[in-house]
Amino acid sequence: STVGITCVPFSGGQPKGGVDDGPVEMVRFGILDQLQGMGFKVELSAGMDKYKTMKPASDPPIGTLKNARYVSAAAKRVSEQVREHCEAGRIAVTLGGDHSIAMGTLVGSTSVYGDDLCVIWVDAHTDINTPETTESGNLHGCPLSYILGLCGEIGRDQPFAWVPSGCVRKDRLVYIGLRDVDAAEKVILRKHGIKAFSMHDVDKHGIGRIVEMAMDHVNKDRTLPVHMSFDVDALDPSVAPATGTPVRGGLTFREGHYICEAVAESGCLVALDLVEVNPKLGDPESLRQTVAVGCSLVRCSLGERLL
Ligand code: ARG
Ligand code: MN
Ligand code: MN
Ligand code: MN
Repeated sequence: STVGITCVPFSGGQPKGGVDDGPVEMVRFGILDQLQGMGFKVELSAGMDKYKTMKPASDPPIGTLKNARYVSAAAKRVSEQVREHCEAGRIAVTLGGDHSIAMGTLVGSTSVYGDDLCVIWVDAHTDINTPETTESGNLHGCPLSYILGLCGEIGRDQPFAWVPSGCVRKDRLVYIGLRDVDAAEKVILRKHGIKAFSMHDVDKHGIGRIVEMAMDHVNKDRTLPVHMSFDVDALDPSVAPATGTPVRGGLTFREGHYICEAVAESGCLVALDLVEVNPKLGDPESLRQTVAVGCSLVRCSLGERLL
C-alpha cells in the first residue's frame, strides 16, 4: 500500500521558531527511506516550501488570537493535501509543524471519511481552547474547538469560515496522555462529555488497558477509520526533550510506542499526524533523540514490528 506524506514546515500556531524545521529533520533522518524499506510506496506532497511564503503582510490579533490568517491559510492548504492522499486511498501521514495544522489534517480526512472518522489525540494537552477561552492566543492550543464546532462567533467567522465546524463527532474523539489541561478546557471536556485518559489513568490501568478502552470508546467494532494525531510532547521530556511546551510526567518511550503499535494492529489507521518536534530547542543530542523518536513513532504506527 501507499503512504502519502505531507510535510508542513509551519510554526505560526505558537511563538517559538524551529518547529517549522521538524519535517525536514525527520526527512533528513530518513523517514521516507525507512517507510519504503518497510515495503510502502511513498508519495510526497509537492511544494512544502510554499508554507514558508504564506505569511500575510499584515495579521493583527483577532481578540487574543495570534497569526489567525497565517494559521488559517496554512491549515487550509494542509487540508487539501491530506484530502488528496485520502481520496487516493493512501495512509495520510502529516509531519509538523505545530499542532494548529491538525485543523487542516482533520478537515482533509473527514472530507473523505465523513463523520465515521475516529480521532485518537495523543498529547500532554487537550488543544481544545476556543478563541474565547484561550489565554495564550496560540492557535496550536485550539484546533479541536474548531473541528468539533465548539467555537463562538469569533471562531466561525473569517478567516476560519472554511472549516466545516463539527466535522468530527464529539463521541468519536478520545485523548491519551493528558497532564496539562487549562481550567476552561476542563469545563469544555465535562460539558461535552469528551472521553479523556490522563497520565493518572495510564498509571492506574497500564497502557494496554488504556488503548483498549480508548478504542472501545470511539471504535467498538474496530471497523471505523482512525486518524491519530500524535503530539510528541505526550512523551516525557526525558524521551522527547526538543518540543515547545514540554510537561514532565509524560508517556515513557515504550508507552508511546505501544499506542502506535496497537493502533497499527487494529488495521484501522487512515491518517497520522506527528507534530511539535522542534529541532531548535535544546542541545544536539536532545534534537537527535526527539527526531529519532518521532520517526520511530511513525514507523510503528504503520506497522513496524519488534518481532
Ligand atoms: N493550553 C495551552 C494553550 O492553549 C498549551 C497548548 C499547547 N499545545 C500544543 N499543541 N503543544 O496555549
Ligand atoms: Mn501538546
Ligand atoms: Mn497550562
Ligand atoms: Mn498538541
